Amino acid sequence: FRVPPAYNEPVKSYAPGSPEREAVLKQYDAYYNSNRDIPLTIGGEKVRTGNTRPIAPPHDHQHQVGQYHLASEKEVRQAIDTALAARASWAALPWEQRASVFLKAAELIAGPYRDRINAATMMAQSKTVHQAEIDSACELIDFLRFNAEFMSQIYQEQPESSEGIWNRVEYRPLEGFVYAVTPFNFTAIAGNLPASAAMMGNVVIWKPSDHQVFSAQVIVDIFEEAGLPAGVINCIYGDPAMITDILLAHPEFSGIHYTGSTEVFKGIWKKIGDNINTYKTYPRIVGETGGKDFIIAHPTANPRQVATAITRGAFELQGQKCSAASRVYLPKSIADDVLEGVKKDLKSINKPGSPADLSNFVTAVIHEGAFDKLAGYIDRAKSDEDAEIIAGGGYDKSVGYFVEPTVILTTDPHYVTMETELFGPVVTVYVYEDADWDTTLELVDQTSEYALTGAVISGDRYAIQQATRVLENCAGNFYINDKPTGAVVGQQPFGGARASGTNDKAGSAQNLMRWVSPRLIKETF
Ligand code: ALA
Repeated sequence: FRVPPAYNEPVKSYAPGSPEREAVLKQYDAYYNSNRDIPLTIGGEKVRTGNTRPIAPPHDHQHQVGQYHLASEKEVRQAIDTALAARASWAALPWEQRASVFLKAAELIAGPYRDRINAATMMAQSKTVHQAEIDSACELIDFLRFNAEFMSQIYQEQPESSEGIWNRVEYRPLEGFVYAVTPFNFTAIAGNLPASAAMMGNVVIWKPSDHQVFSAQVIVDIFEEAGLPAGVINCIYGDPAMITDILLAHPEFSGIHYTGSTEVFKGIWKKIGDNINTYKTYPRIVGETGGKDFIIAHPTANPRQVATAITRGAFELQGQKCSAASRVYLPKSIADDVLEGVKKDLKSINKPGSPADLSNFVTAVIHEGAFDKLAGYIDRAKSDEDAEIIAGGGYDKSVGYFVEPTVILTTDPHYVTMETELFGPVVTVYVYEDADWDTTLELVDQTSEYALTGAVISGDRYAIQQATRVLENCAGNFYINDKPTGAVVGQQPFGGARASGTNDKAGSAQNLMRWVSPRLIKETF
């Protein structure tokens, strides 16, 4: 069988007067005035434990839009048993039947669920509608469509046979269950991590971020309506450490599909090591973690192009993309022009505000902890001698967790915000002497333990080639003459190395292969 050809979902504009604009705002209002009670989903059952936490939008933190139920140890164990009970039937289902469920989910998102997934993402994660459309609706549709195509390629990939011998490979799911841990920043990643493992025949226990529950629940609804059998993806909320400890201590834990912080991922890896004698099989460990993503401009770069890469790469989604530019290296000869360009861009946008006002480019950061951390680094830059704030620098958490897009200029290439992951709308710029291009490339390489994304902007082909070579270990996704964000599924498979992850590119056959345990069968006649 061949699946329908995958294509990228066209992005809607949400222009004034467009039907999609009216529809998403109507849905946003409905959610804003709702008080959703969000249960756990275990084996298709809606489980309400009565132990709940309120949900409030980051841009309006005193306004409750729902509450979600937290799992206790009992429900976590129940999720494991339920997943394992569903495993045999799901694994035995022909792959094209599994693909159909997720292709149907893609069509539901493209159609009737588009407003719900976008409005829920605007509400829960304070995304602008444009970022929600790109990173939630369209990217999740793309993940599902392209992964169906990749799985079709995988299942058809067979070894050579010879006279009297038939060699064949069965792409079997892992023996046990997969644990999916997903972050707040991309609703598409939240859907993709459980779905990609499930597509390959695995059963999954999925724990979304506490700050994404509102939109995670829409994904649960979509998978159910698409006909995903009960027990295949079990969605639980609650204390991450408790949930992780129980799942990782189980003999049938067979893999983790993770996106989140480096520190937590390292802790998980260590725990898996400690439990290694418990497991039936070596678990698959697939993770995308932190970043300290860079832009380096060459003296031949077009200053306007560099400014746009900074404004968009550093500040869209409040700098909370794992791919967001957070350290920038500018040559002295064009630095003033570039920075004037960024300041002009920032003057032309509104102050941070609610995503319900579609003219806002910057909204709130995800929670108070993130806000306080960012405010702390901004204050520090205000008083440090080797740093200066040249744009933004304001913050206010009275209504929402609003932090202005902020540009710090430093004279120290190792200044704290050149090295520390901040995960917010703060970018730090270091200006180098044009003659120091070679050594600045070395500096970019040596400054960070991370290697997620990075960009070089240059009009000189030799410089581009040199940067591509010197920075070969610095970024799993390396961009030439572009911002370092906005990977498109099927075009730029995404993932990083070093402390940024296992680089098992999201949205690729390579990623799907991590969720199978192939059995080679040789039959001799
Ligand atoms: N895939 C996201 C991006 O490239 C993280 O920005």
